[in-house]
This record gives sequence, C-alpha cells and structure tokens, in this order.
Amino acid sequence: MEARPRPDLFDFHGVGMIKEFTENWDNIQNFKARPDDILIATYTKAGTTWVSYILDLLYFAHMGPDRQTSIPLHDRVPFLEICKPPLPLGTDLADKLPTTPRLIKTHLPVQFVPKSFWEQRCRVVYVSRNAKDNAVSYFHFERMNCAMPEPGDWSTFLQNFMEGKMVFGSWYDHVNGWWEKKETYSNFHYMFYEDLIEDCGREIDRLCSFLSLSPSPEEKERVKASVTFDNMKQNKMTNYSTFDTMNQTISPFMRKGKVGDWKNHFTVAQNEQFDEDYKQKMKYPDLKFHYEI
Ligand code: A3P
Repeated sequence: MEARPRPDLFDFHGVGMIKEFTENWDNIQNFKARPDDILIATYTKAGTTWVSYILDLLYFAHMGPDRQTSIPLHDRVPFLEICKPPLPLGTDLADKLPTTPRLIKTHLPVQFVPKSFWEQRCRVVYVSRNAKDNAVSYFHFERMNCAMPEPGDWSTFLQNFMEGKMVFGSWYDHVNGWWEKKETYSNFHYMFYEDLIEDCGREIDRLCSFLSLSPSPEEKERVKASVTFDNMKQNKMTNYSTFDTMNQTISPFMRKGKVGDWKNHFTVAQNEQFDEDYKQKMKYPDLKFHYEI
C-alpha cells in the first residue's frame, strides 16, 4: 500500500481536529435528530465499534443474516461527522437510514453535539475507556490509518495525548465533559470498556434495561457470542477490512482488545509523569477507571 499524505491537526474552537470532521460542519450542526435516535458517543478507540455492534444486533438481528453479512457496520451505524469523499457524508447516511431506531455514532466532544439530539431527548450511550489503554490503542490506530495525523514515536504521541493535541481534542476534557452532561441529561447511559471486558453479559443487560429492551435468553446469548473479540476480528463487516485508508498489516483494527496493554508501552517514568498529570486534569472523584482487571 502506497504512503498517502497525512492530514494536519488544527485548532477548531479549542479542540484538535482534521478537515475530515469539520468540512461538513453546518450540516452536522443542523442535523435533524429524531426522538427515537440513539447516539453512541465515545472518544476515539474507547470501544465504539463493540458497542455499536451490540446495539445493532439487539435491535436488528431479527432482520436476518443478509444484513449481517452484506452491510458493513459503519454503514449501519453512520459516523455523524465524517466527510471523506468519495464516501457518503455521515449526515447523509444517517438521514437515509431505513431503520428505526437510527443508531448514530459520534466522537464529538459534548459541546459540539448538534442541539437537536438534546431537544429531541434522544437516548445517548457514552462509552469511555481508561486513559492509558485508550492512548495506546489510539497510537496504533494512527500508525495504521493514513486518514489520521502522523502519530510520531510513542513518547511523542503520549506527550501530545497528555496535552490534548489529538483529533477530537483532549481525552480528559472528553470524558469529563460527557460525565458532566450525565448529571443534567437523564436519557443517558455512561459505560466503561473495562466493564464490558469484565462481564459483557452484565453490560448487555444494563444496556437493555436502559433501552427498555427484553431479548429472550437465547437472543441475548447469540448477541454475546457474536460480539466476542475473536468473532468481531474475523467478521469482515466489523473489522474495517473494507476501509482502504487502514493498513492492517501495520496494526489490525481489532488489535488486542485487552485491559492493561498500556503496561507493555509505558516506561516507569512515563507512567509516573502520566499519573501526576492525570490528577490535575480529572475533575470528578466519582469518575473512576480501571487500569487492570
Ligand atoms: P485495542 O486497540 O486496544 O485492541 P473503537 O471501536 O472505538 O475504534 O475502539 C477500538 C478498540 O476496541 C480496539 O482496542 C479494539 O480491539 C477494541 N475492541 C473492539 N471490539 C472489541 C471486542 N469485541 N472485545 C474487546 N475489544 C474490542
């Protein structure tokens, strides 16, 4: 695969962005959400694809195997802010979704979410992941995806991560901002990647209770079996093998799927510096992450 030019990161209303996510800004901001839409919001690499697939199966597995084997997940759950010609705009894909509810994915920090989602009282599922594993996963993602800025080496990347010089901005602002929203917006389910790893069945139950879904035990087992790391890695509809900007020989999209891989990347000094900085940036004592399980 030939090397392609990488996009530049720039400051967009105080948040790091690349053109791919700002070019369609007016349509994003004017997006017309519907009351039954479900917004899946995450910081990049927090488990978006996993939760999107769980929700897609919970709602639409009954539509039969064709949908599951012929429509890539990123078309079933459009990425609202994406603008990457010749691919369709995220807003257009979402507008044209034939399903109800519409499942819509975003990585936007909370202050950028189109206001219609709040006005329509849409349900929101936010997935977050501990900062260290999130950073590691993001690093490998930027290495393999030429649609993202060049990550540099690990220590450069980590420094940028701590300074919030990332696409979609600072991890700290993102998880804190969405946490704050949860305090005032009730149609909200805040979940953690680490909880999914610990007990996926329990997390599916929690999602179902939030969404007022009651799958049969067999249906639930089928969802659980389909969304294991190994099955999603094999599944061409969920492993992003259809995306030509991703060079999966550098690092696969479905990379490790673990809690604690950061220990294989952080030096002792990096870890100490990170922990010190983390304390300054995390505002809410109740927002706690697991760094190992
Ligand atoms: P790693 O790079 O640590 O392996 P996103 O979908 O937000 O881009 O997140 C991708 C991360 O979620 C990757 O993390 C990927 O492997 C992990 N992931 C996706 N599906 C998963 C699953 N079924 N089980 C565990 N991890 C999963």
